[in-house]
Amino acid sequence: MRVYLDNAATTKTAPEVAEAMQPFFVEKYGNASSMHSFGEEAKEALENARQLIANYVNAEPEQIIFTSGGTEGDNLAIKGTAYALKNKGKHIITSKFEHPAVLECCQSLEKRGFDVTYLNVSRDGFVNPEDVRKAIRDDTILVTVMHANNEIGTIQDVESIGKICSEKDIVFHTDAVQSLGKVLLDVKEVNVDIVSFSAHKIHGPKSIGALFVRDKKQLQPLFHGGAQEFSLCPGTENVSGAVGFAKAVDMLSETDVKRMTELRDYLIEKLLEIPEACLNGSRENRLCNNVNVSFSHIEGESILLGLDDQGVAVSTGSACTSKKLEPSHVLLALGVKPEEAHGSIRLSLSKYTAKEEIDYVIKAVKEVVESLRKISPLGK
Ligand SMILES: Cc1ncc(COP(=O)(O)O)c(C=O)c1O
Repeated sequence: MRVYLDNAATTKTAPEVAEAMQPFFVEKYGNASSMHSFGEEAKEALENARQLIANYVNAEPEQIIFTSGGTEGDNLAIKGTAYALKNKGKHIITSKFEHPAVLECCQSLEKRGFDVTYLNVSRDGFVNPEDVRKAIRDDTILVTVMHANNEIGTIQDVESIGKICSEKDIVFHTDAVQSLGKVLLDVKEVNVDIVSFSAHKIHGPKSIGALFVRDKKQLQPLFHGGAQEFSLCPGTENVSGAVGFAKAVDMLSETDVKRMTELRDYLIEKLLEIPEACLNGSRENRLCNNVNVSFSHIEGESILLGLDDQGVAVSTGSACTSKKLEPSHVLLALGVKPEEAHGSIRLSLSKYTAKEEIDYVIKAVKEVVESLRKISPLGK
């Protein structure tokens, strides 16, 4: 059996999505900015896609900018705001457990004279909105805190953070790459100014995403070129990608979320039966598809490889940096001990995940953990 439980990394493109995209490669291949009928056909599809995505988050279509994915969206949101508002102030607030697309942006801005506050997160994986309030200074121009964490799945209180930012007239960006389709974010209800999305986490194609931008005047483009995407993300439009993204959004369903939640809870319950296993991140307020567990005395990478031998794909929180295995910055931010962080794996479900697959994975994890512990030099 082959089981894919790495859907937080990427998802399978839904066959319906691939089908919707197909005509835009070989028949309707016009440039959406051309004035002839081929161009008009492409432009219409692009604008329909924009409208559909806008409707989903309750935005206006002109507030949706297509990007090449979450990374580009985060860069445009953070650097674009920083450059546009640098005369107002140079202070940015973020958290210690953001995705590298956010953290690296902030670090690069620090080298350019900006000052960044990295907020602590609680042991169960939350940024306290009151910490955001306390960190705000007269020169704060931007707060960027993710909607849901990609490693542990905890869902942040963006509503409260947004309220604080709007009281203080500070731009609030949230990275909703992992939460799209899993937690509703109505941009008219929540005071978010900029939101990043990516299609490949919801069974859409890779390398297409979108940014919701409430007020485009508060953003500077990072690339310069044509007038596409309101001149904020210039370059020939990725029409097939946008069509696929919109189809994936159109297929999102609450029933799938409910099913994934049930399977996730079952998986957590069974994995925690393993001795010295511990769930990372709150059990409540967590993405419907995320399970992140640490097993004492063994390495996550060894578990991953052992599971891969059994046909099961998961991931570790660790990133292999310059040949040195670093424990996950997310787990360290939570206060997890480095040795525990090293022994963690993330299992992320999709709407296609079946109960039989979960049962197979539970059995495989139990076997792999047991056999690794028998030979572990780390304790047991
Ligand atoms: C929270 C978060 N932000 C940003 C990204 C980057 O998105 P993309 O792969 O579309 O560039 C990811 C992808 O893993 C993510 O999980």
